[in-house]
Amino acid sequence: MNIKQEITQILKTALNKCGYEIDGNIVSLSNRPELADYQSNVCFGLSKKYKESPEVIANKIIDSIKSDEYCFSFCAPGFINIILTTLKLSSIASSLLCSENLGIEKTANPKLILLDYGGANVAKELHMGHLRSPIIGQAINNLFVLFGNNTISDTHLGDWGLQMGLTIAQMEEDGFLDYYFKGTGKKPEITMEMLNVEYPKASLRKKTDEEFRQKADNYTLLLQQKKEPFFSVWQEMRNVSVKTVERNYNNLNIHFDIWDGESSVSNLITETINIFKNKGLARESEGALVVDVAKEGENIPIPKENEFDIQRYKNPMPPAIIQKYNGGELYMTTDLATILLRNRQFKPDEIVYVTDNRQTEHFIKLFRCAKMAEISPENQKLTHVAFGTMNGKDGKPFKTRSGETIKLEDVINMVQEKAQEKLTANGMGKNQELAREIGVAALKFGDLSNDVGRDYVLDIDKFCSFEGKTGPYLQYTCARINSLLSKTKEDGKNFLISSPEERNIVINTLKLIDSFSLALENLTLSPICTAVFNLAQSFSVFYNNIKILTEEDKVKRQNYIALCTLTKKAITLALNVLAIDTPEKM
Ligand code: ARG
Repeated sequence: MNIKQEITQILKTALNKCGYEIDGNIVSLSNRPELADYQSNVCFGLSKKYKESPEVIANKIIDSIKSDEYCFSFCAPGFINIILTTLKLSSIASSLLCSENLGIEKTANPKLILLDYGGANVAKELHMGHLRSPIIGQAINNLFVLFGNNTISDTHLGDWGLQMGLTIAQMEEDGFLDYYFKGTGKKPEITMEMLNVEYPKASLRKKTDEEFRQKADNYTLLLQQKKEPFFSVWQEMRNVSVKTVERNYNNLNIHFDIWDGESSVSNLITETINIFKNKGLARESEGALVVDVAKEGENIPIPKENEFDIQRYKNPMPPAIIQKYNGGELYMTTDLATILLRNRQFKPDEIVYVTDNRQTEHFIKLFRCAKMAEISPENQKLTHVAFGTMNGKDGKPFKTRSGETIKLEDVINMVQEKAQEKLTANGMGKNQELAREIGVAALKFGDLSNDVGRDYVLDIDKFCSFEGKTGPYLQYTCARINSLLSKTKEDGKNFLISSPEERNIVINTLKLIDSFSLALENLTLSPICTAVFNLAQSFSVFYNNIKILTEEDKVKRQNYIALCTLTKKAITLALNVLAIDTPEKM
């Protein structure tokens, strides 16, 4: 059901009758919901075109409309206000209640979309930076599916870069790898705890110890050539890392169809580089192989979301490096080869990458290279969803009190504990699983309710509150409805919308439906978060002001029950898209 389209149709017919013609969008949601549900600003445009006052035009149009579903009225200086009648709202509500996914239609041209999110790195522990990507990526994935598209999600592990050589070199020096390098001792068990110490140590050291850095560089190269013992050690490291990552992502209700990584394209690297060489797109520079992405004299505009980071951008944009001085491969090389692989395996219509906005330049270069070399066909859409930083209350990237970047697992524990505190305060007792569901909801909703590109402050106390624009508040609203519905055997199907409280629930459900397309258009989830919160709020007003189950008039009572059921259905749909659980009880 598309109310906007219906109103547009009525207005268009009226315009026609009155001898007016105009292109473009003529109906929008009302800017002043207290006055109307929808509005049309068409008379201002017509006024310019036909040299009549907007008021005269508005009244002519309104006079020519006869509808018992919508009320059209004039609003100074030239708006047409549109209100849905009780009859119309009731019939809309019934049809929303019966239809799957609130009647959101699946696209007639489903696309195959490959989503690349998560992006955890092997050997490095998952940290806060790896929280936003899967949260946003999973929700965008669900949104594409809601509209009938097919998706493939790939976590694209960072498992083939310098951090591998660094960690191996450090572990060797610290005597953990004698079995592999000297053939002595027992086969060591490589653990996450070990990697958590060794990688940061190596990473710090490479900044001052040039000899060590070169060694790590060389080890990375040997690994990329699949030489022993590097390859065997690497396999062990990858296995333990993947297990940890999987556990963390499972805890967050985030899932992938494919667990590929940079290493998955190791056998396509030479081919990829040759494509650039053969097409004359690559040139040598200081021993490395580079591709010029900017044309002579071209100024590549800085994306708006990256203006904060203006120093990072040089003009003309420096070339993309596709092979290192020592023949090694880089992030750019594996990403190019991955596009080649994905097009051989799946031929997606679109590839969507979800990473933080410090990688924007990388993706500009990647997309340009892929198109130049025709690794990505012309009609394939390549999209980078760039998100901002999750900050602490000091406005700087979130850190622990001692100043370290915080581990993802610790964040999950923190929100879970906070949720448990709230449950205890509400007399719900200890319930680990429920606390996790609530904590994760708090985290996800707190994240997604901001426009994707923007930085935000992780405020665990605020996010976990059962009141206000939070995940737990929405879960709580659903749980309240569950409890109410469990107390009656009646099932409400027939609506008779009359009071403003009732109207608002239906109107806000319609707005929620609109918000899904808006979110899809802009690949940001914040419109859905705002709309679902508004719906929950209008439900709370209704719930607090109206005696639902004790209403004596049967017709009214059934209408109330039907409204509760509809609200629950709508909130649940939104939370499902956001990959947020809806616990039965809270
Ligand atoms: N591993 C990368 C990181 O930690 C993210 C990978 C994103 N995907 C990609 N195809 N480049 O930053």
